This record gives sequence, C-alpha cells and structure tokens, in this order.
Amino acid sequence: MTADHIIVALDVDSAAEARALVARLGGQIGFYKVGMELYAAAGMDFVRELLGQGKRVFLDLKYYDIGETVKRAVRVAAPSGVEFLTVHGSSQVMRAAVEGRGDAATRLLAVTVLTSFDQQDLADMGYECAIAGLVALRVRKAMQAGMDGLVCSPLEAANVRALAGPNAILVTPGVRSSGAAQGDQKRVATPAEAVRNGADYVVMGRQIARAADPAAEAARVAQEIAEALASASCRQSG
Ligand code: C5P
Repeated sequence: MTADHIIVALDVDSAAEARALVARLGGQIGFYKVGMELYAAAGMDFVRELLGQGKRVFLDLKYYDIGETVKRAVRVAAPSGVEFLTVHGSSQVMRAAVEGRGDAATRLLAVTVLTSFDQQDLADMGYECAIAGLVALRVRKAMQAGMDGLVCSPLEAANVRALAGPNAILVTPGVRSSGAAQGDQKRVATPAEAVRNGADYVVMGRQIARAADPAAEAARVAQEIAEALASASCRQSG
C-alpha cells in the first residue's frame, strides 16, 4: 500500500544514494521530492529516472530570480512531467512561473516562509511583521498570481487553508513525529497535526531517510496520518 499523503525528501548527494533509498522504501512511498542537493548532483536525468519508474516527483528548486529567468526555467522544467514545482512567494516570481508553465500539467507551489525561519530570522532580513502576517500576505498574493498551492509550516496550515480555499494544494515540510529529532527546523508539528490542520501532503526527509528501517518508519507515519484522518472524519460526521 502506498502512503498517499507522504512525500519523501531525497536530500542526498548522489543518484546512487537516492536510488538506494527509493529501493528500500519500495512500494511504500510513491512520491519523492528532489531538492537542490540531489538536483546539483544528478539533475533532470535522475528526475526522469524516477518518473520512468512510475514515481511522482516534486521538484523543489524554490526559484527566486528576475521574472524572465523564472519564466524560462519553468518553461524548461514543467514539460518533464514533474507534478509539483516550487517558487518563492513573491508576486513577480509567481506571475512569471505561471506564464512559463503554460499548458503543462505541473502544479506550481509557492513557498510562504521557510519552516527553518522564526521571528528572529525575519527580523534579521528586515521584516518587522509577524510570521503569520507574512504567510497570510504571501498566500493571498499566490492565489492572485494563479498558483496552484502553497508550501507552509504545518502550524500555519489551518490559516493557510482558510485563506487559500479548498482547492489549493497544501504541502507541509517541517513535520516530525513526537520524539523525533527536530534538526534545524523551528516551526514543526506532527504528521497527524499537519493533516488535521488541512495539509494534503507532508514532506518528510530526515525522520524517514535516516531511520534504521526507512520503510517501517514510513509505514508508521502513514498509520499515524490514517488515524488522524479517520478521527477527523468521525468528528465531522458525528
Ligand atoms: O529532513 P526534513 O524533514 O527537515 O526535510 C524537510 C525538507 O523540506 C527539506 O528538503 C527542505 O528543503 C524542505 N522544505 C522545508 N521548508 C520549506 C520548504 C521546503 O523544510 N518551507
């Protein structure tokens, strides 16, 4: 059985290592995130390899550049068949991405505020607003720009869902089961909390990839999510 709500981040530095992790996860995980590390090591060749195996791919390159460059980069990446592609949530960048995507089926996701940022990090960049205010602004701008969804902290997913509406795709990294190491992530929640707050997908890297048995860990997280969704639907129908 595939864990439909889990995207495993392939944060490794070679195609060989990524291949080995995908093989260990077997049929358990059908959706993978390729970020800048693996992309720098193995590029679109490895993305195409995953797609060729019938895997779904989230290409998380978080584009942020002048509009023309973003438009052209999206125009090249989108027809490959990647399902999700990220750009940062600034209006100029998002509008360019939507233009570059054209008729391709790729869904464009806007990064709201990185889950490794806290209030202090925002102040350091010169933002005086609260994280929640900046996230809300970027969600509204993303919807206006024609984006398909958002990447946000699971802690903000309920507010993001309320602002973005039922059709927006919500993807939440910064997810940790209770007791798992947090690493550099600051705005984290459990997989169960993430889906209860309205996330469609949780991105999980280290907790699954560095587990002694990644497939067993993925199965455990899938179970946690299934239980959260079942109890949420009981509450709705009760
Ligand atoms: O290992 P961990 O589960 O923290 O990995 C999270 C993944 O999600 C990383 O690949 C990171 O680049 C990505 N990500 C994130 N915060 C965002 C967007 C993406 O942590 N806002």
